[in-house]
Amino acid sequence: MKMFRRHRRLRKNQVIRDMVKETVLNRQDFIYPLFVVEGKNIKKEIPSLENNYHYSIDRLEEIVQEIKKSGVKSVILFGIPGYKDEVGTSAFEKDGIIQRAVRKLRELYPELYIITDVCMCEYTSHGHCGILHGHEVDNDETIKYIAKIAVSHAEAGADMVAPSDMMDGRVKAIRDALDENGFKDVSIMAYSAKYCSAFYGPFRDAADSAPKFGNRKGYQMDPANIREAMLEIEDDIKEGADIIMVKPAMPYLDVIRWAKDKFDVPVAAYNVSGEFAMVKAAAQAGLIDEKAVAEEMLTCIKRAGAGMIITYYALDICRWIKEENNY
Ligand code: PBG
Repeated sequence: MKMFRRHRRLRKNQVIRDMVKETVLNRQDFIYPLFVVEGKNIKKEIPSLENNYHYSIDRLEEIVQEIKKSGVKSVILFGIPGYKDEVGTSAFEKDGIIQRAVRKLRELYPELYIITDVCMCEYTSHGHCGILHGHEVDNDETIKYIAKIAVSHAEAGADMVAPSDMMDGRVKAIRDALDENGFKDVSIMAYSAKYCSAFYGPFRDAADSAPKFGNRKGYQMDPANIREAMLEIEDDIKEGADIIMVKPAMPYLDVIRWAKDKFDVPVAAYNVSGEFAMVKAAAQAGLIDEKAVAEEMLTCIKRAGAGMIITYYALDICRWIKEENNY
């Protein structure tokens, strides 16, 4: 008699289901994006990112308490500066918004692992991720600035810098500059496969970083391409990236999987603002169970190969994990 396999045996109850589970979310998997603004006494909900806030430096302590309570160990910082100019000067000033935020966070929570997003779009008057020549972003000029920004973050005390500009050669420029300035232990997480995605919409509202003309197609990747993503990743690793990232996450699980299979450095994924906003909106419309969908989405991103996930759900998911595990 030809037998069939009884797959359902291993789904019989929660104990056995948990034992055969291939992907388990841990609190250390998550990185929380934190937005810091100039000004005083500001904690203001970001309209496009429900339950995420703009904090002024003097109120960072409140979110630090929440981060501690949730068990999240790491944040990635985004700054909204007091002024913008053509070359993004406020991105690399000693007392810029990120530099002060890093110092404050270090003081409030010394063990917090602080990652800084290194880019120019929040700091330039034109909203592009680099230095313009006419309407073109000048690659080789931009990477000098990108390196300068990274060094200023390291000087403030960042553990890791994460360039998101998608210029060629930026990882090498940053590594060289960090090493020359005595920051050989500051790591680089490269946004290597960063796609030109419409899923960044809510973030650009939150960070006031939308380009004032044109788009980012001249530097961010075409969503249609995956082999090109492997080239980007390969080059970033050769240039000195410690961790590579795929962004967005949910519609790009194949890219995460290819990256994980082909390369031996840790792979991160960015579950971006549009992915988060869609889940929130659908939940509010009564169409889905928010917690269940968020857990499923993040589990699948991890299953695809991401060892770490940047998500606006970081605090929630870590709280849920804590509750479910009773610790
Ligand atoms: C800066 C940057 C962006 C995001 C992270 N860093 C926006 C962009 O490239 O326009 C998007 C994050 C998100 O959507 O959650 N370059």
